[in-house]
Amino acid sequence: MTLAITRTTAPKPIPQDVSGTFGAYFTDHMFLMDYDEERGWHDRRIVPFGPISIHPCCSAIQYGQSIFDGHKAYRCEDGVIRLFRPHAHLERINKSTARLCMPAVDPQDVLEAMVALVGLDRDWVPQRPGQALYIRETMIGTEGFMAVRPAKQYTFMIFLSPVGAYYAEGADPVKILVSDTYVRAARGGIGAAKAAANYGASLLASEEAKAQGHTQVLWLDSTHRRFIEEVGTMNVMLRIGDEIVTPPLSDSILPGVTRFTALDLLRHWGERVSERDIAIDELIAGIEDGSVSEMWGIGTAAVVSPIGALTYRGKTVTVADGKTGPTTAKLYREITTLHTQAGRDHHGWRIDVP
Ligand SMILES: Cc1ncc(COP(=O)(O)O)c(C=O)c1O
Repeated sequence: MTLAITRTTAPKPIPQDVSGTFGAYFTDHMFLMDYDEERGWHDRRIVPFGPISIHPCCSAIQYGQSIFDGHKAYRCEDGVIRLFRPHAHLERINKSTARLCMPAVDPQDVLEAMVALVGLDRDWVPQRPGQALYIRETMIGTEGFMAVRPAKQYTFMIFLSPVGAYYAEGADPVKILVSDTYVRAARGGIGAAKAAANYGASLLASEEAKAQGHTQVLWLDSTHRRFIEEVGTMNVMLRIGDEIVTPPLSDSILPGVTRFTALDLLRHWGERVSERDIAIDELIAGIEDGSVSEMWGIGTAAVVSPIGALTYRGKTVTVADGKTGPTTAKLYREITTLHTQAGRDHHGWRIDVP
């Protein structure tokens, strides 16, 4: 498929330092393509970044046919810009679209467009440690109609944002509220898809948690409100004694790419890793008796985010000494090194932007 490129005639000033921001700036260009039943995906184009026009009764707005994904490009030590694990994110896009009855994309086609887009806006990739170019893919149902059914027309887009740390705390431990009122995603629902609706469902809980002085919410399972699932918009891991535990994937947990990266690394280091259910009571008891020595969230935005304290049913417990633990620190160090080190990619996870 051809890729038409229209360059901006009004380039914006590039921010020199994006520390403390996440998604505040957008680069000069974006990628778009459209879908209909007759032509499939067509009209691949890179155009100046800006508003798009959509029908007010489209299925994205009315019925939540909207999915997205997100990952990063890094400026490596050798000056080369590299995308981290784009194939895994493209695979997840097609799982999200399948769950929401939306059309699949051709991963190779999209990767080519993504590389071209990042190449065009390469000057926007931050230089400073801990900063990166966030790549956001989004697909929306665009057909204007009233009935509840999958749309027959879609738009897929990619846009870019230079970002700093996701949390104001940076790599410092965060305080988390365990929610037994709200759930992020229900069993049988769309929690394993990166659907916009999951984020809408999470907003009230996280706003209430923030109003009470917490950074984010620890989500419990929807059926029993007993088993831990995710933390904010991250997967969750903890060390209990000599075991590292993370909840098993299910249809209410997003299969995080950073989670897979961390599990690979931990197993490679010879750690005992279990993907098993963890009840909130087991977790709180383990924190209190000291057997839970570390806990962290893991995801593209914050990479690895240490959890310092948990509040559950009005009681706050501090994880170990409330500071970043050694496994958390090692994972952060190793994953960020994989992101940015020159010439080190034994797994074939990175794609160079020529
Ligand atoms: C709900 C949720 N869980 C987990 C993650 C972590 O996924 P990844 O490591 O692929 O960024 C994300 C972020 O994408 C998320 O939004």
